[in-house]
Amino acid sequence: MKPYKKFLLGLGMAGSLHLTACTSQNTTETETMNTAQQAQGQLPEDVHSYAEPAKAVARHLDLEIAVNFDTKTISGKATYDIENLAKGNEIVFDTRGLNIEKVFLGDNREETTFRLGDSDKYLGQPLYVTIKPETKRLTIQYKTSPDAAALQWLNPQQTAGKKHPFMFTQSQAILARTWIPIQDSPGVRITYNARVQVPKELLAVMSAENPVQKNESGVYTFQMKQPIPSYLMALSVGDLVFREVGQQTGIYAEPETIEAAAYEFAEMDKMLVAAEKIYGKYRWDRYDLLVLPPSFPFGGMENPRLTFVTPTVLAKDRSLTSLIAHELAHSWSGNLVTNATWDDFWLNEGFTVYFERRIMEELYGRSYADMLAELGYQDLQNTIADLGATSPDTRLKLDLDGRDPDEGLTDIAYEKGNLFLRHIEMAVGRERFDEFLNKYFNTFAFQPTDTDKFLNFLRTELIKGDEVLAEKINIEGWVFSPGLPANHVKPTSERFAQVEKLFSDWKNGKPAAQLNTKDWSSHEWLHFIRMLPEQMSPQQMQDLDKAFNFTNSGNSEVLAAWFIHAINNNYITADKALETFLTNVGRRKFLVPIYKALAATPEGKKKALAIYAKARPNYHAVSTVTLDEMLK
Ligand code: BES
Ligand code: ZN
Repeated sequence: MKPYKKFLLGLGMAGSLHLTACTSQNTTETETMNTAQQAQGQLPEDVHSYAEPAKAVARHLDLEIAVNFDTKTISGKATYDIENLAKGNEIVFDTRGLNIEKVFLGDNREETTFRLGDSDKYLGQPLYVTIKPETKRLTIQYKTSPDAAALQWLNPQQTAGKKHPFMFTQSQAILARTWIPIQDSPGVRITYNARVQVPKELLAVMSAENPVQKNESGVYTFQMKQPIPSYLMALSVGDLVFREVGQQTGIYAEPETIEAAAYEFAEMDKMLVAAEKIYGKYRWDRYDLLVLPPSFPFGGMENPRLTFVTPTVLAKDRSLTSLIAHELAHSWSGNLVTNATWDDFWLNEGFTVYFERRIMEELYGRSYADMLAELGYQDLQNTIADLGATSPDTRLKLDLDGRDPDEGLTDIAYEKGNLFLRHIEMAVGRERFDEFLNKYFNTFAFQPTDTDKFLNFLRTELIKGDEVLAEKINIEGWVFSPGLPANHVKPTSERFAQVEKLFSDWKNGKPAAQLNTKDWSSHEWLHFIRMLPEQMSPQQMQDLDKAFNFTNSGNSEVLAAWFIHAINNNYITADKALETFLTNVGRRKFLVPIYKALAATPEGKKKALAIYAKARPNYHAVSTVTLDEMLK
C-alpha cells in the first residue's frame, strides 16, 4: 500500500462551487458555508486510489471517445480542467489496463511527459503526468484493453433482439479507471461533457443528459452539469429506444423489452414524488431507467439521471420494484452526499435501504414495507452467521485496506446500516428524524461524507448533549462493534405471520394445493420458500411444485430461492430450468448462492463446473471474479 496521506475536505468543495456557478446567480451564501466547512477538517485517505487530489485535482472532464465493437475497445481523449493546488509539477490519475498514448498540456496541445507506476491487482497503476505550476488543462490520449473489467461487450445472441451487439459499463467501486484515466476516488467530484462515436445503428446513453433517439451520424453528445464522483461515470451502447413514463421519468430499453418495462415501472413518477416529499427536491432534473440484458451483474446501479437495471425485475406484476425505489433513493444518499471512501460504504447503502423502504411505505403502506424489512433482517442474520458474529467485517465502519472494496459489499452495509437508522428513528420519532436527515442531505449536498462527519452531525444536530438519548442510540455498539447490539428491535411483518400459519399447516401434512395463497406477493412467496426445511422428501418437493409451479416461475426471486431447495434435495425435475437460468442470468446475487449450493457435493460440483464452462462467457467480470474464486 502507498504511504499514509490525508487530503483536505476543502477539495470536495470547489466541486460544489462549480455546481453553484452553473445553477445559481447568487453564490455568496453557499460559498461562505463552504469556506467555513473547508476549515472544519480533513477527510481520511482513500486507500483505493493513487490520486493525490490535495496536490492537484480534476474538476471537469471533456471526454471524446469512440466505441469499437470489433476490437472491444474504447479509444479517445480525456481532457481535464484541473486545479494545481500545490503548484507542483505533477498530477496523479488512476488507471488499470489502459494504454496511455500521449498527454498534452493546455489548449495548444503541448506534449508532456508521463509515467505509469507499479501495477496492483485491484488498484491498477498510477499515472503521473508532468504539469506546470500554472497548468489548468490537460489531455490524455488513451485506449482501453479488450478485457477492461468495467466493460461488458455482448454479442447479438446475448441481447433481447439478437440482432445487434451491446455494451455497458459498471464503474462502482473502482472500475472507472479501467475505461477512463481518472482520479478514481469517491471524494473527488467532476462535471463532464462527452462526445461518443458509436456504430450508426446503435444509440449511446450516459449518466448525463441523454438523447432520446438515434441519429444518422452515430455521434452523441452528453452533459453532466452536477459534479459527480468517478464511480458514477457510466455509458451504454445498444439498440435502444426511449419511452416516456411520467413528466420527469422514462425508460431506455431494447425495442423487444420496452413494453414490459413500461408496464413494470409505470409507477416511477409516483416514487419520485414520494421521495421528494420525504427528503426534499430531486437535484438531477430527469430520472430515467436503462433496462440492460440479463448478464448485468447487479440488480441496479444508481448512475445519476439514468439508473441501470437488470431485466430480472420484470416480474410482470410490479412486485420487485423496490429495487427502483432503492436506486432512486441513491439520488440523495450516495449521489448527492457520497461516501468519501469505501470504508464508509454503509453511508451510501444503509441510508439508501432505509430511504427505499420509506418510499415503498409511502406508496404501498406499512404492511408492505414491513415485509421488505423482515426479509432484509433475514439476509442480515445470514450474513452475520456467514461472516461470524465477531468478524470485524460486521462493523459498519469497515477497514478494506489492501483488499478489493468489493469485499465490503455485504448486507452489513445495507441491512445493519438500515437497522441503525431505524433504531435512531425509533429513539427520536419519525418527524424529528426526517427533519434531521433533510438537513443532513442539504448541508452536505454534492460533498463527500464519512462516518465521523455523520456522527458529528448526529451529535450536534440530534443528540445535543442529551445523555439518555446518546446512550439509547449507542453509537459505539452499532457503528464500531461487530454483530448487532443485543437490544436491537427485530422487524416483523403481519403478512408474514399469515404465511407462517399456512406454512405450518403444510408442514403438518396439509397438501400444498389446499393452502390459500391467492393474494400473495413475491415477498410472501419468498418468505414461504425460505422457510422450507433443508431436507424434503421427493413427495414434498413434487407436492409444492405441482401446486405452485415454482420450477417454471416467471419471478426471478422465487426461482432463485426455489433452486436452492431443488439442489439440496436433488430434485432433478428442476435441472433444465436451473441450467437455463444460470446460462441466461448474470446477476451475481443469484449466481453465488446457487453455485455455492451446487458445489457443496462432489456430484453437484461437477454439474456446477459443466454449467459454468458454458455460462461463463455470458457473465460480467464482476461476477466471474467471484465465481472463479469460488469454483476453483
Ligand atoms: N450501488 C449498488 C450496487 C453496487 C455496490 C455496485 C457496490 C458495485 C459496488 C446498488 O445501488 C445496489 O445496491 N444494488 C442492489 C440492489 C438493491 C435493491 C439492494 C443489487 O444490485 O443487488
Ligand atoms: Zn444501493
